[in-house]
Amino acid sequence: MEYIPHFLKTHSKKKSAYLRFLRYKIANASSIILLKTELIMVYLIFFIAFYGKLRKVFIVNEPLSLVGFFGLKLSGKVALVTGANSGIGKAIALYLAEEGADVVIDYVVNPGEANEVADQIRAMGRKALAVKADVSNAAEVKSMFTKIIAEFSKLDILVNNAGIGNLITTVDMSDEAWNKMIAIHLYGTMNCTREGLKIMLKQKSGKIINIASICGTTGCLGAAHYSAAKGGIIGFTRAVAREVIQQGINVNAIAPGYVDTPLLSSAGLTQEALKELLKEIPIGRLGKPREIASLVAYLATDDANFMVGQVISPNGGQVI
Ligand SMILES: NC(=O)c1ccc[n+]([C@@H]2O[C@H](COP(=O)([O-])OP(=O)(O)OC[C@H]3O[C@@H](n4cnc5c(N)ncnc54)[C@H](O)[C@@H]3O)[C@@H](O)[C@H]2O)c1
Repeated sequence: MEYIPHFLKTHSKKKSAYLRFLRYKIANASSIILLKTELIMVYLIFFIAFYGKLRKVFIVNEPLSLVGFFGLKLSGKVALVTGANSGIGKAIALYLAEEGADVVIDYVVNPGEANEVADQIRAMGRKALAVKADVSNAAEVKSMFTKIIAEFSKLDILVNNAGIGNLITTVDMSDEAWNKMIAIHLYGTMNCTREGLKIMLKQKSGKIINIASICGTTGCLGAAHYSAAKGGIIGFTRAVAREVIQQGINVNAIAPGYVDTPLLSSAGLTQEALKELLKEIPIGRLGKPREIASLVAYLATDDANFMVGQVISPNGGQVI
């Protein structure tokens, strides 16, 4: 016969009721624990899936308290982007602000566009200042830097982006066309770098990012002046990078391939020519301004401290 413990014989009815009650309690407790674990998992998946959107919502509402929590890499930094009212420059200004930076928007035409960019940046909870300065004019550049120091007392990031395009053969090139191209790209980069370095050398820190072009390395048909200017920017970048890295300043360049901005049509590139051009780009499309901006943002962070005098070329495979 099966052994039955004494207490079960004597209190069998009471005991079985108690055991049932205990079993019910354990099952209930474990289901609550299971429910809690499942809920946490659901919250976690939701958080990961909507991280980007949540971040934007929170940044707009509470810029200061949540910046550190979400680990924005450029919070507290001050950036100057030249030619920031349009195309790649505008995308860079917005991207740097998204990463936490206050931004100075340099422009030479279209103040309305520049103020719109500034408003978008302020809506993210950052500071923004739109300043009119022709980068090829040393005096205007100087006065822009005076305004930056008056407003922010420092400059951490300088992006030399301002530029123009102009398709013309060398034999037809006027002195005026040549000089204008060299003045805006090469003198412009030099003027801003010189003023930027005066501040950064005192700080013993800074990031300078020059926007060159694949034309500066491969040469582009119908753009000898543009190619010469961009090639010059690459040489300039490498030389200055050697000069100032010991003082904690990184100088690098980005040499994009063709990017979808107003510059292509203002340079005189027709839709027909663009179709032909796309055949030379393995990815089969133009670059997007944000695809250049994200690289600038990376070079502006401490993650890129080991990058010195480099020329990075996002170009859809056109030049490998
Ligand atoms: N779009 C491309 O395919 C491409 C490719 C490689 C490199 N880039 C370079 O990217 C940079 C940005 O060009 P984008 O394509 O965005 O063109 P864009 O025309 O949209 O922007 C150029 C900006 O520079 C400004 N600018 C022109 N002259 C200036 C001056 N003297 N002072 C201050 N600002 C001035 C313009 O007003 C404009 O805001 C340029 O240096 C260009 O050479 C462009």
